Amino acid sequence: MTQPISGFSKKSKEEKIQWLLDTYFPKNKEAKQVIEQYWNSDQALQQLHDDFIENALTNYYLPFGVAPNFLVNGSLYSLPMVIEESSVVAAASNAAKFWLSRGGFTTEVISTTKNGQIHIDFYGASETLADFFTEIKPKLIESIANIQENMKRRGGGLIDIELLDASQTLEGYYQLHATFETLDAMGANFINSCLEQMAATFEAEANTSKKFDTHQPKVVMSILSNYVPECMVRASVQCKVEDLAQNDISGENFAANFVRAIDIAKSETRRAVTHNKGIMNGIDAVVLATGNDFRAVEAGVHAYAARNGYYSSLTHAKIEDGVFSFWIELPLALGTVGGLTSLHPLVKFALQLLQQPTARELMELIAVAGLAQNFAAVKSLVTVGIQKGHMKMHLMNILNQLEATSEEKKKAIEYFTTTAVSHSAVTKFITSLRS
Ligand code: MEV
Repeated sequence: MTQPISGFSKKSKEEKIQWLLDTYFPKNKEAKQVIEQYWNSDQALQQLHDDFIENALTNYYLPFGVAPNFLVNGSLYSLPMVIEESSVVAAASNAAKFWLSRGGFTTEVISTTKNGQIHIDFYGASETLADFFTEIKPKLIESIANIQENMKRRGGGLIDIELLDASQTLEGYYQLHATFETLDAMGANFINSCLEQMAATFEAEANTSKKFDTHQPKVVMSILSNYVPECMVRASVQCKVEDLAQNDISGENFAANFVRAIDIAKSETRRAVTHNKGIMNGIDAVVLATGNDFRAVEAGVHAYAARNGYYSSLTHAKIEDGVFSFWIELPLALGTVGGLTSLHPLVKFALQLLQQPTARELMELIAVAGLAQNFAAVKSLVTVGIQKGHMKMHLMNILNQLEATSEEKKKAIEYFTTTAVSHSAVTKFITSLRS
């Protein structure tokens, strides 16, 4: 059995790798090479990446692609996308092109408020805590003056802090619920610093207050919330139903099937989850490319999708007076300053590609990416099915698995333009070429 190791993080990168090789790969002579081949020859760039996390060994590549031709509020954008799934960028590009000739995407930031909580235990009379909070509220705000200084100068900062009695849900549980405007920063560090300082002030004041006898309020923890339903964005597309006609499908038929597919995703959890997963294909890809926290976005978006007590579609569609409308509304807490945005060269590149958006503009563009991705997926699903396009894009992965040469790839691509792609069909084709 493998033995635990102490002081691992203090070892040099080489020592860490050697320990892993000795412990887990004693017979695999190639493991070292696998790790080292991803090291960057530019020492400074490698060091930058090593410094992002503890115990960094190497770099994990994902493709950085681009989906052009997004017409958003009258301006053209090329969206940077970091994703491994073969068909996602192609699907986004298709949707962008489809809507380019039909008026493009329209967006609107609905709200930008973020929030965090100081979670409190208190078993005394709730009025006592309420009185105490009213008395010390100005002191709590005053205690974060330094932390807030820059943010306030730019027009952001703490909006309000209020006491919530949650003791009906959980005995003795209260919250100081704080709301913030963090402008172009995602704001996690800012919010957490404010909360921790206000929590310390709260406890210090409680310790010296004469209001409490046997029952003293106690801070359990302080942390921002990744549920941000007051930080909402909307993206939409609209066109005459007849303008949706394609190949041998009438606009009316397509629109009716499309709306039905959305209605199914609204009413049935199993479909809703896959439907929203497709939306997140687009959203996560741009979130990652722009150095934002995709776990925070994912958690917040899915909680929002379940806000009514059941999990439902993030997108909506309708036909009214011969007009087809399709839209998305979702919470997105994003930053275009701070975090990785000024550190990671590819994140800087992605933000430049987007013409240095504000956080509000990035919310809009990322909502568009989600809507476009969903449009492409549902369009395929209600017409030719998903596998045709998906497998066409997956062909190269299968060819690489079979270690096809460039000549074999060329022949395969030509052959499979008119033949359905499957793993066995590609294997058969390559075997026949080789024999
Ligand atoms: C695959 O990554 C995403 C889809 O399953 C989304 C959907 O079904 O709507 C195609």
